[in-house]
Amino acid sequence: KNVLFATSEARPLIKTGGLADVSGALPTALRALGVDCRLLLPGYRQVLASLGDLPEVARFEGMAGFADARLLLGSMPDSGTPVYVLDSPTYFQRDGGPYQDTSGTDHADNADRFALLSRVAAHLCTANSPLDWRPELLHCNDWQTGLAPAWLHFAGRPVPSVMTIHNLAFQGIFPPSTVARLGLPASSFQIAGIEYYGNLSFLKAGLFYADRLTTVSPTYAEEIQHEPLGMGMQGLLSSRAESLTGILNGIDMNDWNPAGDPHLPAHYTVRSMSGKPRCKEALQADLNLEVAPQTPLFGVVSRLTHQKGLDWILQVAPGILDRGGQLAVLGTGDKSVEQALRDLVAAYPGRVAATIGYDEGLSHRIEAGADLFLMPSRFEPCGLNQMYSLRYGTPPIVHATGGLRDTVVDGVDGFVFTYATAHGLWLAVERALTAYAEPTVWKRMLQAGMKRDFSWERSARAYLELYERAAAEA
Ligand code: ADP
Ligand code: GLC
Repeated sequence: KNVLFATSEARPLIKTGGLADVSGALPTALRALGVDCRLLLPGYRQVLASLGDLPEVARFEGMAGFADARLLLGSMPDSGTPVYVLDSPTYFQRDGGPYQDTSGTDHADNADRFALLSRVAAHLCTANSPLDWRPELLHCNDWQTGLAPAWLHFAGRPVPSVMTIHNLAFQGIFPPSTVARLGLPASSFQIAGIEYYGNLSFLKAGLFYADRLTTVSPTYAEEIQHEPLGMGMQGLLSSRAESLTGILNGIDMNDWNPAGDPHLPAHYTVRSMSGKPRCKEALQADLNLEVAPQTPLFGVVSRLTHQKGLDWILQVAPGILDRGGQLAVLGTGDKSVEQALRDLVAAYPGRVAATIGYDEGLSHRIEAGADLFLMPSRFEPCGLNQMYSLRYGTPPIVHATGGLRDTVVDGVDGFVFTYATAHGLWLAVERALTAYAEPTVWKRMLQAGMKRDFSWERSARAYLELYERAAAEA
């Protein structure tokens, strides 16, 4: 079976969050099951720089009013999975990240950039495709590829499509004037189409036109059919409940393996844990924290946003510190949160470390060196860091929502709180501190987490089944 996997980020080429981890791993796991899954990814500067010179396999000159573009064929650095790179200097070769410029403002032409990505994804699935390789199914991810199922529909649905929601908070909303500029049929600008409260929504288009919808955990699949987590799409999603499934993400068990992780100063396994205290000691030293083996060290690796409950963490931090704990945070995001973290470091020198930035190595060292991991997200479609924490013997403290609820077992391998406030988080922190003080209880918890299997294979099988169902129905 040939599947085109269209995405706006994929590790290790370009990453802003979990979508990149999924796009970097799932297509490869599908290939191991015999699916010829290939990626379609924009040719951002970072992507072209890592892949070097690539052969051109197609050219799109002034296609439907878009700037010129061409398609290059490369392969993913670690896995060799084929990747079609959409090279269009006008849209993709610039400073900054995939969605925002260096100052953190959205690129002004995001509608055009990701409409082109969607348009090309759909085009490659039609009889007019310039490629010899023809997808039998199109798998789209998040709003950036949301227009592709719409264009497939306008082209007579030559192949079925699957739309995966990684985060409903990002809906790709643009003013109505965008519809004509992108060459979308005016007749589709209605409730039964691409229109969303008077605007165009790329995500809504995908959710309306795709044959099958998925999201990245069973609990989130249920939550988004209602307020508040449906974020305005709950009506559409509940009307499509029959076509909506939640498939839990996996993690890359090789990249995230405390037994051989190259980012760590020492290694450990469930049977031989002596490397973990050494990771803790090195982390404390690196971050200018007091080197104190007995002190409970709480780790956070996160986008610093409202979704991730950083304000709750800031509220419970003094309590943690007053109880003798330490806190190590890595992240970027809201400027106010970044400043509050700096203030906390100033108030508790040697007890709090805040690294504002993106640092892959440090994210691994925090997962390994911390004793506990805080992830009190208000909502979380799946979440990967809590699974990394479990695997690294660092029990996570999580809010009972989405994928957090589906992956952490309260009192067995981590701590789950349901009361969605800072106080709810605090009660879980207190329970965690009590367990931490009981060496036998604690050891059992670490081991339970480290033994969990979150490998991609299981999820890939679920996607394969879904592809087969979509093909049978088409
Ligand atoms: P989301 O995609 O909503 O941000 P996930 O938990 O699914 O949340 O995935 C986040 C991914 O990004 C994880 O792989 C995490 O380790 C990584 N990450 C987040 N912030 C940073 C950072 N500041 N430095 C390094 N890695 C980060
Ligand atoms: C999104 C979600 C996160 C999920 C990731 C990968 O970024 O916020 O919960 O793990 O996508 O699916």
